[in-house]
Amino acid sequence: VLRSVVTGLGSYLPKRILSNADLEKMLDTSDAWITQRTGIKLRHIAAEDERTSTLATYAAEAALADAGLKGEDIDLLIVATATPDFTFPAVATQVQAAIGMTGGVAFDLQAVCSGFVFALTTADKYLTSGSHKRALVIGAETFSRILDWQDRGTCVLFGDGAAAVVVEAQPGEGTSADRGVLTAHLRSDGRHLSKLYTDGGPSSTGTAGHVRMEGREVFRLAVTMVTDVVDAAFAATGTTAEELDWFVPHQANARIIDASAEKLGIAPHKVVKTVSFHGNTSAASVPLALSAARDDGRIKRGDLVMVEAMGGGFTWGAALIRW
Ligand code: ACO
Repeated sequence: VLRSVVTGLGSYLPKRILSNADLEKMLDTSDAWITQRTGIKLRHIAAEDERTSTLATYAAEAALADAGLKGEDIDLLIVATATPDFTFPAVATQVQAAIGMTGGVAFDLQAVCSGFVFALTTADKYLTSGSHKRALVIGAETFSRILDWQDRGTCVLFGDGAAAVVVEAQPGEGTSADRGVLTAHLRSDGRHLSKLYTDGGPSSTGTAGHVRMEGREVFRLAVTMVTDVVDAAFAATGTTAEELDWFVPHQANARIIDASAEKLGIAPHKVVKTVSFHGNTSAASVPLALSAARDDGRIKRGDLVMVEAMGGGFTWGAALIRW
């Protein structure tokens, strides 16, 4: 069997930092409220001349260097984003040109905060079918551009950033000891639109709109949804929470992460939590957390890593990876 093995990882966070103290000066909010409710301390904000494609390209170049590859070695490029530079063309084709990838195929994928898990799963299908050999999977967002900076219930939660993985098709034995993506499970339920959406778009208002969210409802459903899909990934591979080395969840809110890990029986020291340093970066959050945990020596070759995410739609999913 063919497996999709992660061979490179890279990330980019814009230089400008917006702390909770900065937000206290802009809005009726407090560091104590934000920290207690979400665990977020700061977020990065893209400079005026930085677009989602800029962030995505920096992350892609870092991941390629990490894998020892060049743009021309890649035959599949997927950018997960809800904040593209343009309505069209895709961010992915802009990144394709920027990294010197002249062949293959590049496209965007839209599943909001679940975007990276959806894009990784999509790449896995291409690679394990044998149709493509080397993929770049990128999560990149500039959510600061679609926030209502007067709405304290949403604007304190999000930040900008990008991260990318190189995934290569390699032969495996078909067991959970193989390196690579062992299983991936995606779900969606379109009945939940009103709980998390933007109040605009090219075909409705002709504007990008702003993020609108029923935070309490999202919170209520998030833990059940992500634990269901993570359990499905454990069941499909015959693995357990005890065998897991690292749980790398979508970084939206520390309380959702802690509650999910507890319900799944995953020990707190196995949970990778980076939300305090960059807030919710939507599709970039899972690969940013993977980068942080790999770079500080936590995630090592051979480790069993569960990634999961949930986002607008609703969309949600999980993938189990032997690193
Ligand atoms: N600072 C101070 N007070 C605030 C702020 C703020 N930034 N935002 C809201 N409040 C106030 C509200 O106005 C309200 O005041 P009131 O009681 O006088 O009306 C009070 O705080 C409580 O508001 P709630 O929205 O009920 O607060 P809650 O405890 O639910 O926390 C939060 C809000 C943090 C958004 C929470 O619901 C949450 O984390 N939800 C999950 C949503 C999430 O993480 N979404 C990310 C995107 S989705 C995804 O990635 C999966």
